[in-house]
Amino acid sequence: MKVLIATEKPFAATAVQGIREVIEAAGYELALLEKYTQKSELLEAVSDADALIVRSDKVDAEVLDAAKNLKIVVRAGAGFDNLDLEAATAHNVVAMNTPGQNSNAVAELVMGMLVYAVRNFYNGKSGSELMGKRLGILAFGNVGRNVARIAKGFGMEVSAYDAYCPAQAIEEAGVHAVANQEELFATCDIVSLHIPATAETRKSINAALVGSMKPGAILVNTARKEVIDEEGLMKIMEERADIKYVTDIMPDADAAFAEKFPGRYFSTPKKMGAQTAEANANAGIAAAKQIVGYLKDGITKFQLNR
Ligand code: 3PG
Repeated sequence: MKVLIATEKPFAATAVQGIREVIEAAGYELALLEKYTQKSELLEAVSDADALIVRSDKVDAEVLDAAKNLKIVVRAGAGFDNLDLEAATAHNVVAMNTPGQNSNAVAELVMGMLVYAVRNFYNGKSGSELMGKRLGILAFGNVGRNVARIAKGFGMEVSAYDAYCPAQAIEEAGVHAVANQEELFATCDIVSLHIPATAETRKSINAALVGSMKPGAILVNTARKEVIDEEGLMKIMEERADIKYVTDIMPDADAAFAEKFPGRYFSTPKKMGAQTAEANANAGIAAAKQIVGYLKDGITKFQLNR
């Protein structure tokens, strides 16, 4: 059995070593395709793979057509908008993710980006503190929960809203539950996005929501660029010179945001929320174990395309 790691954005070397140990202990072979720039490289590499580990790499019908021996693909991470689940099912390929494995890394980056934002991007001018500010967490999943935990250590007040998590569960985690996302934006100083990119959330973060935020508002996005209505956000940031946007997922209109909003807009050059040795090892080794568990024992926990 051949397991391929195909990562345009490579894992830390220590994580690859950990994955190799799991794969080789099972008697399988590990192949590596890193930093590829052409889809053709991926198509060639998957041609004899029985199992595939990816990150945000797109696995569509064309990739699945080329992967004639493929039985399982695991997205080493949480968001699976890069996997075509219908195509995977049509190709008899099991698709999984590794929820929770990289969530602390993303949550730590949220706090780092917030300190950067309230300290005026470290420009030397007097900024403000996070303590006592109200942080709104949109979607209370693994990342949102970790953000809440760390934000409390900063002395922040924390609110959350999640369309799929009951208010009681949020309150039990010691976080103030609000009724809807409108209330979250209107009552918080800072909003941190942790919603997946779906048909429902696409462009859902719009001018009306961001415009309802308090003076000096900060929007932090470590989720997906697709959830932002970029035109709407740009319009409200033009109207309100107090709003800051910091993101780990470069918007399509990055150049325009950077030009229009110096000192109020920051994007990482490449998504790096999950880019730590620890998160790479957690997610990558979990993916390897899930592959071995499926191929040897038929375990389908975390299967996405049932
Ligand atoms: C995730 O959904 O797990 C994160 O966005 C991390 O994505 P990455 O593996 O491409 O860094």
